Formats: sequence, C-alpha cells, structure tokens
Amino acid sequence: MTGPRTAWWKLSGDPASDRPLIQRAAAVLRRGGLVAFPTETVYGLGADAFNAEAVRRIFAAKGRPADNPLIVHVASPADITPDLVTEWPRAAAALARAFWPGPLTLVVPAGPRVPAVVTAGLPTVGVRCPAHEVARALIEAAGRPVAAPSANRSGRPSATRAEDVWEDLAGRIDVLLDAGPAPVGVESTVVDVSGPRPRLLRPGGVPPEDLEAVLGQPVERAAELAPGEPPPSPGMKYRHYAPRAPLELLAPGRDGWEAAAAALRQALAVGGPVAVIGCREDLTRLAEATGLGLVPRDPAQAGAPGPPAGEPGAGAHEAAGGAARDVVALDLGPRDDAAEQARRLFRALRAADAAGATRILALAVPERGLGRTVMNRLRKAASGGEMGAGATGSDRL
Ligand code: TXA
Ligand code: MG
Repeated sequence: MTGPRTAWWKLSGDPASDRPLIQRAAAVLRRGGLVAFPTETVYGLGADAFNAEAVRRIFAAKGRPADNPLIVHVASPADITPDLVTEWPRAAAALARAFWPGPLTLVVPAGPRVPAVVTAGLPTVGVRCPAHEVARALIEAAGRPVAAPSANRSGRPSATRAEDVWEDLAGRIDVLLDAGPAPVGVESTVVDVSGPRPRLLRPGGVPPEDLEAVLGQPVERAAELAPGEPPPSPGMKYRHYAPRAPLELLAPGRDGWEAAAAALRQALAVGGPVAVIGCREDLTRLAEATGLGLVPRDPAQAGAPGPPAGEPGAGAHEAAGGAARDVVALDLGPRDDAAEQARRLFRALRAADAAGATRILALAVPERGLGRTVMNRLRKAASGGEMGAGATGSDRL
C-alpha cells in the first residue's frame, strides 16, 4: 500500500507562532485528511467526526477492527450539541463540569449526525474535551468535532511521543503535529453514563475514586471482564498495549524477590536481551537479589541494553544465568510517584522493543490512584504474551 506522504510538523509551544501550522492541520482535517495530534493523555489520530469516509481512513491506517468505536473530541464543553449527543444525563453534566477539559471520556446516547462508523453501530458515543492546548486549538480551528483513537497501530502500546506515532503510522497519515511528550501518558478514563448507573469501562487518567466523589455514588467497575462475559465496551476484548516481546507480570512484593530473581535468570538462560520494567527501588532490589549489575535507565533515554559505556558496572557482572549487558532495566520512576509511572509506561514498553528484548518482565507497581491504571495496562500487555505466568502466580495480577 502506498499511503500519503506524512508531514511532521514540530510546534514550538508558543501559541502565537504555532497558530499557522495548527490552522494548516485543521484545513487537512476539514478536507477529510488524517492528523495525529498531541493530547494530555496520549497522541490521537484525528479525522472529521462527521465525515464517514475520513473516519474509515482512521481504521485503515491503524488496522483497527471496525467494531471498536472511536472517541469524539470537542474543543470546549459548549460544543456538546444535539447533533452530537441526543441526551446529556445529569451524571455526564456533573462529571464534565468537574473534569473537563481533561482525561475523561463520557459514553452517552449518540446524536443523529454521528456516522455509524464512529460508534461501530452502537447507539452511544464516547465524547471528551481534552486539556492539551494544541488539541483544543486544532479542534476549534477545524470547526467540528474530531474523532480520534490513540495514534498507534492497533494492538501496539499507545504513542506518547511524536516519534512513537511516526514509528507506527508514517506513510499512513497526512500530518503529525509534534508538541513533545504527552504529560499524562495513559489514556482517558472511559465512563458509561448512558444507563441508570455509571459504569467504568476503562480506568485512565482520572481515578475512579475521584469520579465517585463528584457523583456521590459508587461507579460500577466493568473494567475487568469475567471469562465468557460479553464486553460492555468493544475495546475491552482486544489485545492491547502489547509490545512485540512477550511480557510477564511479576509481583515480588507478594511472591518474594527470590521468585522474581529466578524469573529473570530463567529468561536470561533462554536468551537475551531481557527487558525489566519497574519502579526504581524495585529494580535496585532485583539487582541485589540477582547479583546482576542492573542500571535503571529512563525509558526516554534507553537505547541498547546493558550499562552505558564508562559507567560503574559496565561489563563487571557476569553472574550465573546471564550477563548484566543482556538486561535493559527500564525505570518507571519512584514507587510513590504514580503520575511518573503513568508518564513512562508506554515509553518503556516501546523502549523494550527498541532494545531488541526477547522477553519483558514487568514488576507490579503500587495499586493506588493512577497506579491502578498502570497495572490495568500491564495486565493487558501481559495477557498478549506467550509466556503466561503460571510459575509466579501473576495470572491473578
Ligand atoms: O485518552 C484517550 O482516550 C485517547 C486520546 C487520543 O483521547 N484516545 C483513546 O482512544 O484512547 P482509543 O480508541 O484508543 O480507546 C477508546 C476506548 C476503546 O476501548 C473503545 O472501545 C471505547 O473507548 N469506546 C469508545 N466509544 C465507546 C462507546 N460508545 N461505548 C463503549 N466504549 C466505547
Ligand atoms: Mg487505543
């Protein structure tokens, strides 16, 4: 397939000097083109939400199954109009007031102008007003709502930097608007407010406790599917967020550090490089437990596996079962900083692939606030892996 030539436009961060490029990108949207753009959560792949033909191109560019609906983005809460939604339930109004603009998607009855390709034929539509200034300026300049899934090839980790979008979608989209790394790093929380009780369809940037505090009632957790149960959100049934290498989720806090060390030695014995993703303190702990000289690296800077040349530990560790240079340790940040873990997560999954890892071991993060979203994404990435997790019991994670 020969697709469009993708233009990569770097923005400066200064609204006045960025305006001309944003206007040009908006014109591409109005003509039915595809524009990848930054939001505060992850990069989105946008098309005119009222143009069915343009929206179909999104599915083709991503390789996305047609039964997985898209989120429609608006520039301001005032743009929730009757042609976009037929009802705006009280819960939607309360949540939008509290969290918009921001990382929250509200599923409500769809309006008459929303093409079936956007909703995958469902009677509902997911709507969101993003907080990122570039996203809002783009949608406003386009003068219409913008349908946008995450800007990654279907099944791959979401794109949190323009480089990630390029890796997945170059030659398949018209424009990439680059405003640097996405500040939240995980996707929006998706809540269905179309029924009698609000239901959480996907944990995300807004923790469920915060939704409940605003609504004054519990939010039903539909986010984890029981086997055989039909998915309330089509996206829940697909393999998601998966790096190329199989990922195994370990819980050393529960199963012990010796089990985690054994899993790493075993993975190395099969053949490296092995990527280990975890909080900084936990990577240090694993280094002690294995005797391997793991050097935690910021995933944004990670290149080839092993300690960088000249750093203490380079080449010094040849412990049984594998050498330190066969391990790339990807640091999600401090254990008590869930926001940093969320920011680094998808970058780390992609860095593991870039390092040529044949196996990925992920160390569970504390399940508080955004940490729950991080764990939700890690579980989904793990369920796509071949290694399973029987030996360490992480199938229950
Ligand atoms: O943060 C985000 O939400 C990003 C940025 C670009 O806004 N977008 C994003 O879109 O993550 P996507 O397509 O990757 O994920 C949207 C999720 C899917 O799981 C989809 O099934 C669900 O939302 N969804 C969308 N519309 C729905 C609807 N009408 N009913 C149920 N689930 C819906
Ligand atoms: Mg996605």
